Amino acid sequence: MSVIDDVKQRTDIGDIAGQYTQLTKAGRYLKGLCPFHSEKHGSFFVYPEQQSWHCFGACNTGGDVFSLIMKKEGIAFGEALRLLGERAGVVIPSMVRPEVDREANERLYQANEAASLYFHHLLINSPAGERARSYITRRGLSEKSVADFQLGYCLNSWDSLKKYLMGKGYSEAELAEAGLISVTDTGSYDRFRNRLVFPIKDARGRTTGFGARVLDDSLPKYLNSPETPVFDKSGTLYGLNLAREAIRRGDQAVIVEGYLDVITAHQHGFTNVVASMGTSTTDKQVSAIKRLTKNLVFALDADAAGEEATTRAVGYENILGTEVRVALLPQGKDPDDVIRESPETWQRLVEEAEPMMDYSLRFVTAGLDFSTARDKSVAVERLLPLINGLENIVRQDHYKQLLSKRLGIATHKLDESKTFSRPGKGRPKTAAMEIETRTATGRELFSSPVEEYCLALLLKHPELKAEAVELLPDYFENSENREIYNAFMLAEDTSSARKGLDGTVWELFDRLLKKELPSNIIGQRLYSCIVRLKEKHLRSLVVRREALLASEATKGEEQDVDLGRQLREVFIQKSSWGQKLKRRDIDGSRKPGK
Ligand code: UTP
Ligand code: MN
Repeated sequence: MSVIDDVKQRTDIGDIAGQYTQLTKAGRYLKGLCPFHSEKHGSFFVYPEQQSWHCFGACNTGGDVFSLIMKKEGIAFGEALRLLGERAGVVIPSMVRPEVDREANERLYQANEAASLYFHHLLINSPAGERARSYITRRGLSEKSVADFQLGYCLNSWDSLKKYLMGKGYSEAELAEAGLISVTDTGSYDRFRNRLVFPIKDARGRTTGFGARVLDDSLPKYLNSPETPVFDKSGTLYGLNLAREAIRRGDQAVIVEGYLDVITAHQHGFTNVVASMGTSTTDKQVSAIKRLTKNLVFALDADAAGEEATTRAVGYENILGTEVRVALLPQGKDPDDVIRESPETWQRLVEEAEPMMDYSLRFVTAGLDFSTARDKSVAVERLLPLINGLENIVRQDHYKQLLSKRLGIATHKLDESKTFSRPGKGRPKTAAMEIETRTATGRELFSSPVEEYCLALLLKHPELKAEAVELLPDYFENSENREIYNAFMLAEDTSSARKGLDGTVWELFDRLLKKELPSNIIGQRLYSCIVRLKEKHLRSLVVRREALLASEATKGEEQDVDLGRQLREVFIQKSSWGQKLKRRDIDGSRKPGK
């Protein structure tokens, strides 16, 4: 999850708005005097379910919690984010990350590669490496595996690597930056000592970092490289450089947890296996796989599977646009054990992997008694947010029906209890459930596919900028999207638009820029997107306005008429797409001749 989403997740707009103006509850929303202009009748509304606000008075504008703070405090997006981040206990990267310095990074890759070769040489040849060699034999690793994965051994010494690399012209600062040495008040020393070394490579095969295992049962079992300019553990999959081809060819990837699991799998011919390196698989890692295949299987034991299924499966599925599956390992065994015992069992487990959402249903409902209303409620409360989080409507519907059947509750009744999906204030909730709903629904709650699609079209086709005049910043409910749109409209080109943004928005900006889009009829796609956003905006105004009118008799008539007129215009615009298409650039390659 991005820091932006994380902050939104932990922030309740009602609390924030309540600090600026007194709010009273009126049905499903909160109402008060507008904090931005003086008025006698409250025309300021907060919608906790959508985590948004709107002023129907003089401001006639609205947005999310960030735009609220920005407007009230007169600050930029980045400042608003930091303010709310501090309040929510989310650490926001302090400064915009410096532009990647390619040359400096190149040196770090080289230092890592030199270290890796050095360690490898020691493992193969040095007398001191004897214990490591016999450990490897005991673990059943073949010579070929040792070579393929360039395994190594680091000496039981404080400065042998440092001396070796400095002798090759690397500075102490470079070695520290690469995470190869640790720096203290009293000096610097080799980070890895007397361990079996697993070089970690990126998808292109460049050595970015290391994991290093003790040769006995002492702790910590593994030491890993720290985050460095070239090592982003959460974005790396161990073994991906060697598994790429097999993943592409077989159209399937299997994710395991450990270094040794990967090596044993490859050694037995299962070369589509990669490791998340001990932590939960991240969105970044899944995105890296997505370029090769959409068929993803997680090999996990029951505990880890339950955790993944209830907290992250929905996110994975939304990234991949399809289901992910889980191969359940026998309790207490990791893939290394399973494969070594019986490669056939491994093969069968992977082939029979179960869709993770199915597993979620099984996992969450295990031990519940559906003859009681209480347990039915528990199941709905835990599962509905997951199901509603699925962006794919067919899949969402499938699981809703499944749940409905299991519980004997009509699907439309489930829909009515949709309010469960937002962690409500004042409703007691266990910490585990809190985390569950938070992470599982994060993407769904905060990302707006149409907004993002529209922005991606613009960013990738800046020549269509002139076509965007009808697109108003207010159409973007998400402040970060609004920020990107504003920066784009102001800037000369895409890269200066990026520079104009707060660093925290870059991740989203880059993701949008990388989005795979169809390449034909771009102009028409953009136009229809704009109309959809406009329609969505007007519709939400109508709904909110109805709420306003229901709460009291106000001078709402004129504006209502106006909204009605604008919506009718939208319908006309939609029905005239065909004609517009004829007049517009059809393939998006021609500049709009306005
Ligand atoms: P495991 O504890 O399952 O280790 O951690 P393993 O890989 O199976 O190793 P063996 O079989 O006991 O020798 C799984 C992964 O979690 C990460 C490593 O990537 C490891 O491969 N990990 C584990 C760490 O980073 N640090 C640790 O202290 C432990
Ligand atoms: Mn193991």
